Amino acid sequence: MKVTSHMNFDRKIDWQGRSRSTWESMESAFGVSPADGIPMWIADMDFEPAPFLLDKVRDLADKGHFGYFTGVDSYRRAVAWWLSTRHGWEIDPDWVVVTAGLGNGIAMTLHALTEPGDEVIMFSPVYHEFRMKVKRAGRVPREFPLVRSETNYELDFDSYERMLSGRERVVLFSSPHNPGGRIWTEAELAGLAAFCERHDLILISDEIHHDIIFPGQRHTITPLAAPKLSNRLITMTSASKVFNLAGMRTGNVIIEDADMRARLSGFMDSINLQPNLCGIKVCEAAFSPEGAEWVDQLCPYIAGNARFFEDAVARIPGVTATHMQATYLAWLDFSGTGMEMEEVRQRVYGTAKLCPTPGIDLGPGGETCLRFNLGAPRSVIEEAASRLADAFSDLQ
Ligand SMILES: Cc1ncc(COP(=O)(O)O)c(C=O)c1O
Repeated sequence: MKVTSHMNFDRKIDWQGRSRSTWESMESAFGVSPADGIPMWIADMDFEPAPFLLDKVRDLADKGHFGYFTGVDSYRRAVAWWLSTRHGWEIDPDWVVVTAGLGNGIAMTLHALTEPGDEVIMFSPVYHEFRMKVKRAGRVPREFPLVRSETNYELDFDSYERMLSGRERVVLFSSPHNPGGRIWTEAELAGLAAFCERHDLILISDEIHHDIIFPGQRHTITPLAAPKLSNRLITMTSASKVFNLAGMRTGNVIIEDADMRARLSGFMDSINLQPNLCGIKVCEAAFSPEGAEWVDQLCPYIAGNARFFEDAVARIPGVTATHMQATYLAWLDFSGTGMEMEEVRQRVYGTAKLCPTPGIDLGPGGETCLRFNLGAPRSVIEEAASRLADAFSDLQ
């Protein structure tokens, strides 16, 4: 099936009343009414769903079977096909442990493979839920700072060596990086792998955004950059970000090592967690040639949004954006304005009525930043950029 003719990323949808958290919770979270606010916080997209995924949901309804089901194996094969075709990584479908999303995958992996009080390293600033998952699991987050470069962030293993306590068990890594939108190079990933080997650490590479890669950029899936790490590597992928299927609550925790896989599966058995029918059927439909075609059209559109937004931000004195290569999340630093964050927030949420994620939630290094979701029609991004410029027009 050709999907091209159905695509319309420009089309604005009225999301109100459709149970979308980003709209429905905006007023309670930020005091901004959905009547005139623009939600730019929660990481899902404003586009209409891919037509072939809607067809899949209709097909499920037509079949009318919602009882116990088969099909998890064919879902795993679709994941393997996708990873081979899109990322050049050949896996055995049996390596795929199907979870209720990747937040769930991270939490269960921590419970299954570490002990209470174990320390988990993350490179900050980073996706806010990393530290929350670690804390809620009774483990201890260790924030190792990323270093700001001219365009984005870098890892600094020399300083990380000096920060180790000896109680660390896991590195929880975001690749590509949420919030910086950076693709890590193969050399950086190899350096990370060597760090994990040296210090006997399990590496969890959370690659939930790894299909949203801008034209001309190349993302390397961590197992390919770290081929000798299979006995301590866990790679997490999902259809949820790139196909906007977060509500399907389906994620892939991919583990080559049989012992680690058995421990995670055993933990899942102990809480009786199994995939749900709608999640695996719709996500299987996504990991397909039609899905590949959809992604190939989505990525240039997002990249266009990012370039537009970055250019607009560059005209506001004192506000800097990391240069995005991937993801639909823009990361803006307001420290150069010289304003207190209270004033920045007043201007962004109060005056511009934009609702980005507060950077402070993403840990050390995020205090003066805000994260803006650009997964929306271009006209919305243009409106957001224009409101932002107006809110800081006295600086120009
Ligand atoms: C890096 C990262 N990991 C995990 C998640 C959450 O994934 P899920 O919705 O599958 O729990 C997100 C959501 O934004 C994310 O950005």
